Amino acid sequence: MTLMILPGLIDIHVHMREPGGTHKEDWDSGTIAALAGGFTTVLAMPNTRPPIVDAATLAASLDAARTKARCDYGQYLGAGPDNVETAPALAPRVSGLKMYLDQTYGPLRLDEMTLWMEHFAAWPKRSPIVAHAESRTLAAVILLAALYDRPVHLAHVSLREEILLIRAAKERGLKVTCEVAPHHLFLSDADIPVLGGSRGSGRGEVRPRLATAADRQALWDNLAVIDCFATDHAPHTVAEKDGENPPPGFPGLETALPVLLTAVDDGRLTMDDLVARMATNPRRIFGLPEQPDTWIEVDRAATWDIHAAAMHSRCGWTPFEGWRVRGRVQRVVLRGQDAYRDGQVLAAPGSGRNLYAE
Ligand code: DOR
Ligand code: ZN
Repeated sequence: MTLMILPGLIDIHVHMREPGGTHKEDWDSGTIAALAGGFTTVLAMPNTRPPIVDAATLAASLDAARTKARCDYGQYLGAGPDNVETAPALAPRVSGLKMYLDQTYGPLRLDEMTLWMEHFAAWPKRSPIVAHAESRTLAAVILLAALYDRPVHLAHVSLREEILLIRAAKERGLKVTCEVAPHHLFLSDADIPVLGGSRGSGRGEVRPRLATAADRQALWDNLAVIDCFATDHAPHTVAEKDGENPPPGFPGLETALPVLLTAVDDGRLTMDDLVARMATNPRRIFGLPEQPDTWIEVDRAATWDIHAAAMHSRCGWTPFEGWRVRGRVQRVVLRGQDAYRDGQVLAAPGSGRNLYAE
């Protein structure tokens, strides 16, 4: 065994599905999957049913997390058509304001650009706005970041034109940061038929879509522009993915670290690149506390094959099924306590902490 110690990883983009979708995941199963994947903090997206857009829905999610979460967490607030005035007061209690501006899962999509402007003007600058904005929408959001002179984090960048635009925006000194998901770094549209599903391409459905091999290469060529790796863990069950109208989304919590460590072995990035994007930069961008008594231990020599059957997520599948990877999480220490060791989850439900509690 070749043990390597890393800081506890932070996943800034996770769909916990609670409330309203707990057959796919909940705060318990999702945080178990997080720990098994080496993540000690997860930031949860607001596109639940109902979506998290006000004090009452925020309290409902945080109540569930308080009793169930086994790792530390934060919750995003969703930008809706009716919460421009009420959202800012909740900013200290959330990770940021999530704006869905393109096709997605759930009802939170905002089409009207004047609403985007109102949210940009109202949301406090010390808390990030996180935008799901693809292609030309992303160009519009970068303009808003400039006009309102405020931090904006661009979720799951997947296209060459997007990463080039973000590079140019950063060169101009605009306050934009971005994340890329492992599935956009390692898969392309050529994998969609391989992922299959009983009705054809259902399992390959994800937003943003898997892009071309040239787009994928552009992400690797512009690694320096990528601030974070975030899983966009978006679990839907096998039955849903293989059924009619498959919902978009891939699980990712339990595969992100091993596929990225394997890329380190392949010389595609360094360990420092990985730690910056999975711990240091997420902490800085989202104002999370230093946790010197939180770390993970990884067996760097362990070679293993990814199988959904061995995973903890409720969704029951992975787009990386059968991949041979190197590097396995052996132990997770969360605030001084063993949270996961040798395949066993030791953290109790409710032992996770809300890192944005006032
Ligand atoms: O593929 C996706 N799944 N993209 C999204 O924007 C939402 C997510 C989900 O919640 O399932
Ligand atoms: Zn997402």
